[in-house]
Amino acid sequence: MIPVKIEDDVYSLRANDWDRRLFDELVPLPDGTSYNSYLIKGGDKTALIDTVYPPKTAAFIAALKASGVETIDYVVANHAELDHAGSIPAVLELFPKAKVVANARCWRMLCDQMPLDRSAFLEAKDGGELPLGGKTLKFVFMPWVHWPETMGVFLKEDRIFFPCDFLGAHLAASELAVADQAQFEVAAKRYYAEIMAPYRVQCRSALKRVEELEPAILAPSHGPVHFRPSVIIDLYRQWTSDEVKPEVVIVYASMYHSTTAMVERLTDRLMEKGLPVRVINAVGLDSGVLSMALVDASTVVFASPTVLAGPHPSIAYAAILANALAPKTRFAAMIGSYGWGTTMTDLLAEMLREFKAEFFAPVLTKGAPNAETFAALDALAESIAVANAALTTNG
Ligand code: FEO
Repeated sequence: MIPVKIEDDVYSLRANDWDRRLFDELVPLPDGTSYNSYLIKGGDKTALIDTVYPPKTAAFIAALKASGVETIDYVVANHAELDHAGSIPAVLELFPKAKVVANARCWRMLCDQMPLDRSAFLEAKDGGELPLGGKTLKFVFMPWVHWPETMGVFLKEDRIFFPCDFLGAHLAASELAVADQAQFEVAAKRYYAEIMAPYRVQCRSALKRVEELEPAILAPSHGPVHFRPSVIIDLYRQWTSDEVKPEVVIVYASMYHSTTAMVERLTDRLMEKGLPVRVINAVGLDSGVLSMALVDASTVVFASPTVLAGPHPSIAYAAILANALAPKTRFAAMIGSYGWGTTMTDLLAEMLREFKAEFFAPVLTKGAPNAETFAALDALAESIAVANAALTTNG
């Protein structure tokens, strides 16, 4: 871990976590991640923007020392989650006179997680400024991206905005800026889909605040620094909009191929009607794959056999995840099979109670699908196609 210059007296202190494969024991990290802190040396005062994940503290403190910094006057905590706030105690131990600059809610949340003395607290107000001498920090509250206390900091003179989690990506990389645009966009979408999407409306408000600042550089606390802010801003504008793409995501599990046969029939009919279809096997599901698919697809179909009267546990997981993500999906359906009796769709509907899509009538088969099942699936495909066509017409 080394300090990397962004602008004069502004440095990135990035702790790459190349090997981390799961965040919160929940979110897959195919490209690892990074925890980015930033060092700003003003004429009078020196500030850190966020810190790093506790297991990276030793490397972080070593890099801080290597930067030649003699003192830290302020540690700005944009967010209380420990992947950014976890090294604050170590910084305070090294620089006991440093103040923790945070909004009131963030301070309370920090105190819930670590021993902090009230005398170390300096409250940040929305729109408030903190002069460092030739460099000025301006605080921009952006609640619920993705915790209630989240904020960002704008370095006015250099026009650098530090949005913490917002606009970030789980991507470990040695390069300061985006090195591989295609890889980055997938990582950024995965990150948005799993972390920010449930707060789509709040993200839209936060994005507006960022745009109003007209930043030259965006320096989030995960992944690369953006020297062309419009690229990530445009992606977020698209993801947070109310627009959906006419596309059908079918998430399925099958035990004796009855549900598989139903999925194949529905997929074929939808393809014939010109609708893009994305089929995702829910067994061993990478939550990021489903989350990304739900960012802008118009339609989702849950396809499940019956297990102990309910959905297959893998489909139950997919449904609970989809319900929690609150995507902008407009249409949904449930299809599946059973052996002698089922309450599968009732239980699935309960798991999807916050899923705000219009549901088509479910299609079920007892045992292997027969001509009647296939006819019902053909009718479902027609209903989905008509609904999507209306979407294209009406916006
Ligand atoms: Fe990267 Fe919400 O912490």
